[in-house]
Amino acid sequence: MAAPDDLLSLARTMMGRAHAPYSKFHVGAALRAEDGTVYGGCNVENAAYPQGWCAEASAIAAMVGAGRRRIAEVVVIAGGEALCTPCGGCRQKLREFAGEALPIHVCGPEGWRRTLTLGELLPLSFGPHNL
Ligand code: THU
Repeated sequence: MAAPDDLLSLARTMMGRAHAPYSKFHVGAALRAEDGTVYGGCNVENAAYPQGWCAEASAIAAMVGAGRRRIAEVVVIAGGEALCTPCGGCRQKLREFAGEALPIHVCGPEGWRRTLTLGELLPLSFGPHNL
């Protein structure tokens, strides 16, 4: 399953806008809400290192700020050889707005690399249904 062009393109644009002067690791994310609208985000680092946040978190905040609550599909893009899968905290943040079937397309500068589901990345997750 390849990454959809519209999300890949938006994620690439977002990667170019990352504020990552400390790690130099630029990440872009794009997601499609269940109504078809798309939102992007980039990582935003801070001189006080723990205050920075991830690209996925930015994209989720953009979606929630626009009044949407369900995510249908996600693209994450970054450089480097290794797959840039969402960090543990972002897996949980995605879980708030999606189920285990959520497809996460992991991409590099050359394009699509691999698609994983949220359930693969965060098995037996704790989520809204627990409360
Ligand atoms: N980062 C993301 O934005 N998303 C991920 O899924 C992994 C890591 C960012 C956080 C930090 O700004 C930089 O990448 C290095 O960890």
